[in-house]
Amino acid sequence: MRIDVLTLFPEALEPVLASSIVGRAVESGIASIACTNFREFARDKHRTVDDRPFGGGPGMVLMCEPVFDALEHVEAGHEGQASTRVLLTPQGERLTQRVAQELSQEAWLVLLCGHYEGFDERIRTGIDAREISIGDYVLSGGESAALVLIDAIVRLLPGALGGESSAHDDSFTDGLLEYPQYTRPREFRGMAVPDVLLSGDHGSIEAWRREQRIERTLARRPDLMQDRRDEGRK
Ligand code: ADE
Repeated sequence: MRIDVLTLFPEALEPVLASSIVGRAVESGIASIACTNFREFARDKHRTVDDRPFGGGPGMVLMCEPVFDALEHVEAGHEGQASTRVLLTPQGERLTQRVAQELSQEAWLVLLCGHYEGFDERIRTGIDAREISIGDYVLSGGESAALVLIDAIVRLLPGALGGESSAHDDSFTDGLLEYPQYTRPREFRGMAVPDVLLSGDHGSIEAWRREQRIERTLARRPDLMQDRRDEGRK
């Protein structure tokens, strides 16, 4: 998968994208990720990318020209391939595991990070992007949202996680939270590992884990149980 990120702050993204699972996926060629700075496409000698809003009001608004020019530049480098454009905005569709799964099927994503008070509405209407929010809160820019989205997508790409089954067992993959995990020691400060996990009985372990997943989901996220019912799952 190829991912281009258009942003005013590539230097904030690059070290994170070079670390951990995403960094390893890039190193092993599973994903290739490039950041492009809108500011390189500013049209004046001050490299202006934002301006005051028409009609007045606080803050600055990201301008159309540098955003459209940056997007067209990035896409012209790969003529003939179709990109899926994603605009990070608190007004977008909420990111869920299902959205991450859908986007992980794409060959090429172009992510656009808004900044400051917002962006010119013609960026939204003129770009034909899928608009995504990572949650009902306002960040000071789309950069941290892009990092969240990239992490959620890249770990789903075949080979990105060590064991192929790791992503399959994740919370949300089938609408349930994950079961609790334990490692050594068997007892820590009076807290013991559940006997069943030490029993070597894989059938019982499997059954216990499933029970735990259902119990936890009911206790912490009853809304997810309702979603499963609505989808007709058992
Ligand atoms: N930009 C600012 N807030 C955001 C959010 N919650 N999700 C995505 N992009 C954003």
